[in-house]
Amino acid sequence: MSPSTVDLVGLKELIGAQSVLTDPADLEAYSHDELASTRFNRYPAAVAKPRSEQDVVQILRYCGERGIPVTARGAGTGLCGGCVPSGGGIVLSLERMNRIIEVDPLNYCITAQAGAAMSSLFEAVSDAGMFFPPHPGDESAFVGGVVATNAGGARAVKYGTIKRFLMGLRVVLASGETIELGGKVMKSSTGYNLLDLMLGSEGTLGIITQVTFGLLAPAGCLQTLVAPFRTVREAIASVQGIVGKGYTPCAVEFVEHSVIRCAERLVNKSWPARDGEASLMIILDGVAEDEVLSAAEKIAEILEQNSALDVLIAEHQERQAEILEIRSVMYEALRPGTVELLDICVPRAEIANHVQFVHEIEEKYGVPLPTYGHAADGNIHTHLMRTVIRDGELGDDVPGWSDKHDQIREELYQDAVQRRGVISGEHGIGLTKKSSLEQNIGNSNIEVMRAIKRALDPRGILNPGKIFD
Ligand code: LAC
Ligand code: ZN
Repeated sequence: MSPSTVDLVGLKELIGAQSVLTDPADLEAYSHDELASTRFNRYPAAVAKPRSEQDVVQILRYCGERGIPVTARGAGTGLCGGCVPSGGGIVLSLERMNRIIEVDPLNYCITAQAGAAMSSLFEAVSDAGMFFPPHPGDESAFVGGVVATNAGGARAVKYGTIKRFLMGLRVVLASGETIELGGKVMKSSTGYNLLDLMLGSEGTLGIITQVTFGLLAPAGCLQTLVAPFRTVREAIASVQGIVGKGYTPCAVEFVEHSVIRCAERLVNKSWPARDGEASLMIILDGVAEDEVLSAAEKIAEILEQNSALDVLIAEHQERQAEILEIRSVMYEALRPGTVELLDICVPRAEIANHVQFVHEIEEKYGVPLPTYGHAADGNIHTHLMRTVIRDGELGDDVPGWSDKHDQIREELYQDAVQRRGVISGEHGIGLTKKSSLEQNIGNSNIEVMRAIKRALDPRGILNPGKIFD
C-alpha cells in the first residue's frame, strides 16, 4: 500500500497531526531493524505514534475499517525484520507509551507500558530493591518487543526466558477491542492460556500495550569465570560436566577468540584469556557469598579436568563489567561485515556437534562463520559474514558470498532440525526465517497458527507477511 492509497487525513484527525509522521526523512528510521542486510528494508506510508491505549484503539479501528496494514514497532532492536512494514501501510510505534506504571513490592511484580525500555525497567526494579533476571542483549529494547519475540539472553540458564516472568498483558486486538490477560496471580488454570499465545506472536495477533512481569529478590553476589580452551568444541563439551554435577550458573556463554579480538578493538578493553581458539564465560550468582565462591572453585576444578587451558576468576566488579561489555558488543563489532545473525537452538547435548558442523560448512564454502552464544541453552549465534576477519579486523569481501549464503543457511537449518532443534531460539522468525519455518515445524503446525491468526485478525491487517504467509 503506497502513501497515496493510505488516507492519513482521517488518522491525523483522530490522534492528532503531531502523532503521525509522513515526511520521508522521518520515515527512514522506521524502514528497518538492526538486521545487517538491507534487503528487507521498506518505508511505511506513515508512522503513528500513539500516546495512550485509547490512541492504539483508534488507530486499529481506523485501519481495520480500511484494510490498512499496521506493523507494531518497539525499539527496532530486532534482527530478523519483524517490525519492518513489508506489507505496506503504517508503522505503529510504541515509543511514546514508555511509562513504568507500578512496581508492586508485595506481589513482586512490575507493570509498564509496552514502549518502556528495558533499561528503565531495570532501573525501576533495582531502585525498588528487586531483580528482573531475563536480560536481552540490548537494553534499549522495549518491554512489548521482548514479549512479542519471547526474548532470551544470557541469564536463561538459571532463570529461563521472558516466558517464565510474563504475568500479565493488555492487548488491543485487530477489531479495536482491548483484552486483559493474566495479571498478578502466580497460577492460573482458567481456560486457554492466551497470555502465552502472545509470546513470540511478533505483532501479528494484537498490539501489546501493557506488560506485567514477575520479579525476584536480588541475588546479591556475583562471580565471573573465564576459561580458554584449545578448540571451541572442547569449550562447549565441558559444559555438560558443570550441569551434570548439579551446578546451575546464571550464564554459560561460549565465545570464539576471533570474535573477541574484534569486540576488544571496538571497546578498547581486553579479554583475560589469549591462548586457544575459544573461551567459556561463566557467571554465578547467589545470596550467600561463600556459597557462590565455593561453587566457583568447584566449577574451576571441573573445567580444568575438562581440558581448560586455564581458569581465571574475575574478582573485582570492574573486571567483571569489562568482560561483560566485550561479550555484549559482539554483534556490533562484526555487524559491518555481517549479512545475517542466526540464533539456532538445539537440545543442550547437541550444541558441540552443531558448532562443529558450522565450521565444516565454513570450510566447505570458504565463508567465515564465527560463532558465539549461550552454551548451556544450546543457543548458537552464527554470523553469516560477507567479509573475512583477520586479527580483530574485518577485511575484504569474500568472493561469491551472496550466492553461498542461501545454501549455508539451508544446510545449517537442516542440521538444526535433524538434531530436533529450532531455527530461532530467541530472536524470532520475522521475515528472514519465514521461508524455513515449515521445514522446522511442519505444515500442520503452521495451519494451526493460520487458524488462530484468522480468528483474531480476519482482515489480516496486523503485521502481514510475518512468521508465515
Ligand atoms: C547476543 C544477541 C545477539 O546473544 O542475542 O549477543
Ligand atoms: Zn543471544
